[in-house]
Amino acid sequence: MAILLGQPGSCWVAAATATDFPRLEGSLRADAVVVGAGIVGLTTALRLCEAGRSVVVLEGLRTGGQVTGRSTAKITTQHALIYRHLIDTVGLELAQDYADANSAGAQQIRDWVNNHAIACDLDSKDAYTYTCSESRRAEVVAEAEAARQVGLEADLLDRAPVPFETTAALRFPDQAQFNPTMYLIGLAAAVTARGGRIFENSRATSIDEASRWRVVTDGGAVDAGDVIVATNMTVKSPVGMANRTQPRCHTAMAFRIDDPRPVDGMFIGIDDPTHSIRTGRDAEGPLLVALGPKFNTGWDGDVARRFIELEKWARKNLPVGDVAWRWCNEDYDTADRIPYAGEPDPTKAAGFHIATGFNAWGITNGTVTGTMIADLICGRPSRWQKLYDPARPYPEDFHKNGRSQSIVSSTHDIAPGMGGVIVRGDEKIAAWRDTEGALRAVSATCTHKGCTVSWNNADRTWDCPCHGSIFAADGSVIHGPARKPLAQIAL
Ligand code: FES
Repeated sequence: MAILLGQPGSCWVAAATATDFPRLEGSLRADAVVVGAGIVGLTTALRLCEAGRSVVVLEGLRTGGQVTGRSTAKITTQHALIYRHLIDTVGLELAQDYADANSAGAQQIRDWVNNHAIACDLDSKDAYTYTCSESRRAEVVAEAEAARQVGLEADLLDRAPVPFETTAALRFPDQAQFNPTMYLIGLAAAVTARGGRIFENSRATSIDEASRWRVVTDGGAVDAGDVIVATNMTVKSPVGMANRTQPRCHTAMAFRIDDPRPVDGMFIGIDDPTHSIRTGRDAEGPLLVALGPKFNTGWDGDVARRFIELEKWARKNLPVGDVAWRWCNEDYDTADRIPYAGEPDPTKAAGFHIATGFNAWGITNGTVTGTMIADLICGRPSRWQKLYDPARPYPEDFHKNGRSQSIVSSTHDIAPGMGGVIVRGDEKIAAWRDTEGALRAVSATCTHKGCTVSWNNADRTWDCPCHGSIFAADGSVIHGPARKPLAQIAL
């Protein structure tokens, strides 16, 4: 495997000052307990605190360091080609709701950044969807018409203002970009200033109902009237979410760039392979962030190759310097391209709320769904309930399980820094060598529903090809739906 350049990790997380909230120890009671300190969780928490509710937030790792911190963080109602699709499939009324909901989410972010003086590199930018192919120009034209139909300002251009050839572009003016981790740290500060309590390194190991909802971690428990599971993919839900969604990843790279002006805007291509571009910055200066095409989590045995291809594409098309950062980001697609959010089963599981399936557009959708959940808890009806209905019908053949891509015949096939899955009878062993060559092993059986994990040779993680759980090389949980680590195995 070629050596990948750049530091592993998201440039947004690297540029933010790390939070240091305590671990939960002991038992607490609150009006609401939020599981996950990403954009949905902290939006819900702040909205509830503003309404005078007592709130506890439990984060398994660090605030803003997971899915939101790995996103492209575009604050926009332009979600590639979406409005034509929504009008044609779910109708004009819901397409209108989608546009209005995401406009409200974008406005909520701007308002909170102003009201709470959150330093998060918020920058107004135009958003562009572009094609480099003459044959796909008509789709951009149709999207412009659809966007105008739902009241969005959308300009059709002959080309996108990027340093490579394009044949058509759709511009949404006055959108924005920011550093999502810095934003979430600002929201967390606003939550604690209003009496909310945040705990990090406090992973929910069980969520059960007694007279109230009880969320248990390794160090303690929280009892609350409402629980909000805001963990990207739900770690628990009365209505199964894993089979309504499909986990998918992107590769992302942040390059040093001397002058960000040649890329003035946020861009997403519709061609295959598709790319997404925006600028940003870390402590050392300006960056250009580029994303490659999506792939199903755990379905590619050579993720490192995707980074090499992305770097090659960026060097050919953009004025980039050294690779500074690289990371994979994960999200979940839904069949109708609309997230699931709200109370999935108000009759049998009242007070249990979820949000998932953001189709890679979680910044505005995550903000508006977090706001909606808080409003519903406070007894304020929300216009978006029908749009995001988490129990709406779905095509049962949408979700597909994958297979491990990492089966090897012996540990001799595993080079330093690499991992592989060895099958011994019924037992499947996920073995990896550290960079010194020492061999370690955990069970390759995912603790969610028993699929066999794949080795991600770029992030050095074990990724589940069924519902997208991600485990560190040592088996600890990075991303659910799994809540328990991979079992330790002595070789
Ligand atoms: Fe469901 Fe692994 S995430 S089986």
